[in-house]
Amino acid sequence: MRIFRIPHIQSIPRARTFTASKALLQDLPHSTRAGKLEAKPSTEKLAPGALAGKVAIITGASRGIGAAVAERFAKEGARCILVGRDKDRLTKVRDGLVSEYETTHGLAIGDVRDVEWWKEFSKKHKQTDILVNAAGISPSSTFVRTDPDLLDEVVRTNLTGTMMACRIVARQMMAQSSNIDRGCIINISSLLGLRGGRGSVAYSASKAGVIGLTTALAAEIGRVGIRVNVIVPGYIETDMTAAMTPEARSEALNAIPAKRFGQASEVADAAVFLATNRYANNCVLNLDGGLSAV
Ligand SMILES: NC(=O)c1ccc[n+]([C@@H]2O[C@H](COP(=O)([O-])OP(=O)(O)OC[C@H]3O[C@@H](n4cnc5c(N)ncnc54)[C@H](OP(=O)(O)O)[C@@H]3O)[C@@H](O)[C@H]2O)c1
Repeated sequence: MRIFRIPHIQSIPRARTFTASKALLQDLPHSTRAGKLEAKPSTEKLAPGALAGKVAIITGASRGIGAAVAERFAKEGARCILVGRDKDRLTKVRDGLVSEYETTHGLAIGDVRDVEWWKEFSKKHKQTDILVNAAGISPSSTFVRTDPDLLDEVVRTNLTGTMMACRIVARQMMAQSSNIDRGCIINISSLLGLRGGRGSVAYSASKAGVIGLTTALAAEIGRVGIRVNVIVPGYIETDMTAAMTPEARSEALNAIPAKRFGQASEVADAAVFLATNRYANNCVLNLDGGLSAV
């Protein structure tokens, strides 16, 4: 089976200094070299990353979409706080960010379903500019055969976990300044939250809930300067889709107009757009290679 891949989209360079090389100066017209530009020191600040100075909390950051968002946000200059249950995996992601981007990033080890954990978290982390809720699970099994505990676990992870994070962070954002642009929340739903799919009743219900939560919250807190948006991915190449049977995968690939699954980095690009575009509020951003159209 052929899996289509596209190269990562290049990001805005992060803040750094550079020394203009001779070759670079030689490319300029002679009059410019002799004029003002040449007279300037050769250590000029490049444009800072689009998220420089921002603090971003990212749940589900140990792998997949959450890890890709953390990577992309760090590239744009944000300081990331990575939330997840697996300390070793989170540490690996954090260490990768620190060595690549030379900024400090934090870890918060916990389960997004745990309301008490979120309360403790809010006592330790006071400043948040961006929240990305990417933690999620998607066990596949037919509804009538699924254990009620598992149905509950899916809803508590995907919906309640997202809601708890939104509540804690929205309260922080409201308290931290009176700015017109107080912060941005980005939730990750799923195309299965908009339409059905076999073996995904609890998952679809939870993801439909995430869309409802997003739009209702945008109506409530948009007026105090907090933007709330949701990304609605189709099939993305992560551990989640790696668990699909070959038949299900092939059926999905056939249905997607783009004829490939998306990359986690492409979801991360969408998250950067939502985090930086100050008019983006209550966006329900489909990212599915056209699957929602067919
Ligand atoms: N991949 C897709 O095709 C696709 C499509 C549509 C929507 N989505 C959504 O996108 C989000 C990310 O999915 P993914 O594909 O990146 O999945 P993934 O690779 O399986 O990663 C899931 C992440 O969620 C974390 N997580 C799960 N339960 C948690 C809990 N109770 N507390 C804290 N963290 C928890 C995992 O952390 P641990 O390391 O602790 O397990 C992991 O970091 C999910 O909400 C998913 O529903 C994915």
